[in-house]
Amino acid sequence: MSTLEKIDINNTPKHIAIIMDGNGRWAKKQGQDRLFGHNIGVESVREVLKGAQEANVKYLTLYAFSTENWNRPKEEVDGLMNLLVHTISNEVDELNKNNVCISTIGDLDGLPGDCKAEMLSAYDRTKQNTGVHLILALNYSAKWELMNAVKNITQKVETGQLTSSEVNEECFENELTTKGIPDPELLIRTSGEHRISNFLLWQIAYTEFYFTEILWPDFKRENLYEAILDYQSRERRFGMVSEQIEKNS
Ligand code: FPP
Repeated sequence: MSTLEKIDINNTPKHIAIIMDGNGRWAKKQGQDRLFGHNIGVESVREVLKGAQEANVKYLTLYAFSTENWNRPKEEVDGLMNLLVHTISNEVDELNKNNVCISTIGDLDGLPGDCKAEMLSAYDRTKQNTGVHLILALNYSAKWELMNAVKNITQKVETGQLTSSEVNEECFENELTTKGIPDPELLIRTSGEHRISNFLLWQIAYTEFYFTEILWPDFKRENLYEAILDYQSRERRFGMVSEQIEKNS
C-alpha cells in the first residue's frame, strides 16, 4: 500500500501551511550559493502542490518571504524576487489548467512593482478556479497582520462604523489577510528548526505542528503524505477531554 493510499481521504486537513526552510543549508552542502537552494526549492513547491491535489487538501499556504527576509544580503533578496516573478509567470498557465487558484497574503505594496503586478495578475487569471487554493505569504509577518487588524478596527470604532462592544473574534478575523480562509489544521516546518517565525500567529491557535529534519529542497510529495498520516494519528481535543471527542464523533 502506498503512503497516499494509507491516508483517510475524508479526514485530510483542509488547510496545510508550510514554513519552507533549509534552502541555504541544502545549497551549502552541495557547494553552491544560497540562490541555487531557492531555485531547487521551487521543485519542492511543485511537488507539494501536486501532493495537495492528490490528498484532497483545499488550501496550501507557503511562507515564501517574510518581512524579516528583507534583512538578507541584497543579492539574495533580488534573486528571490526574480525567482518569484519568473516562476509565477512561467507556471500560471499550467496552474490555471490544473484549476489552481493562486493568491497572496502579506503587504503587497512593499514588494517591487513587477512582483506585485505578477501576483495580482496571477490572482486575476485564476480566481474563479475551484481546485487547490495556493496562498503565497509574501512580505508577510503575523505581527504586521495583527497590528493592521487592530488599527483598522480602532479606526472603525473612532468613525462610528463599529461600537467597542461589537468588537469580537469574527470582526477581528475579517480584518486579517486570511479573511474567508479556514485556519490551518496542520503546520509543517522543514529543516529541523522548531520555531514559528512570525507566521499566522492568530490562525494557528489550534493547529497541529509537524517538524521534520528534511531540508526544503529534499521535501517531496511522499513527505507531505507522511505529515498528513502523522496528523491523522493525533487526537484533536480543542480544550475538551477524550471522552467528549469520542461521544461527538
Ligand atoms: C528559507 O530557507 C526559504 C526562503 C526564505 C525562501 C523560500 C522560497 C522558495 C522555496 C521559492 C518559492 C517560490 C515560489 C514560487 C513559491 P533559508 O534560506 O532560510 O534556508 P537556511 O535556513 O538553510 O539558510
